[in-house]
Amino acid sequence: MKKPNFLDKLNLPNKTSILLLIVMTVLSVNLISCGTEAPKSDEEEQAVEAAHPGEKVYKKYCVTCHGTDGSMGSNGAFNLRETKLSIEEKIAVITKGRNTMTPFEKVLKPEEISAVAEFTEKFRQ
Ligand code: HEC
Repeated sequence: MKKPNFLDKLNLPNKTSILLLIVMTVLSVNLISCGTEAPKSDEEEQAVEAAHPGEKVYKKYCVTCHGTDGSMGSNGAFNLRETKLSIEEKIAVITKGRNTMTPFEKVLKPEEISAVAEFTEKFRQ
């Protein structure tokens, strides 16, 4: 008669964790659906592009390491607010990459690279 008791003890935490899992799933699904913005309309996208042609590129490809204001420094990324590079040197780094920064020559068109390099000049002020 000891066996069912033992199993009961084993089952209890299992049930609890399954319940917890369900609760967590429901909570995170709620969080995700609250956090996602409605897809941007073409007009909004164009407005972003018009603000600065490099801004869209920056938001898409650079924010992960450099942050929205250039100073995040994730993965050892340099602070773009404090950079002393000229625009030509930036274009070279973005095109060819440097150390852990990935090259973008196969990802972006040359005009996108110069646009995004120019956009990062804004961080200096
Ligand atoms: C995977 C992370 C990562 C991404 C994505 C990334 N960078 Fe970098 N970036 C770095 C790292 C790391 C360095 C420092 C490289 C080194 O150690 O020489 C750097 C350096 C730079 C520099 C040189 C700064 C200086 O003062 O020398 C510029 C300019 C730059 N990044 C711009 C960009 C732009 C523009 C993009 C988007 C097109 C971008 N980076 C995307 C990680 C990243």
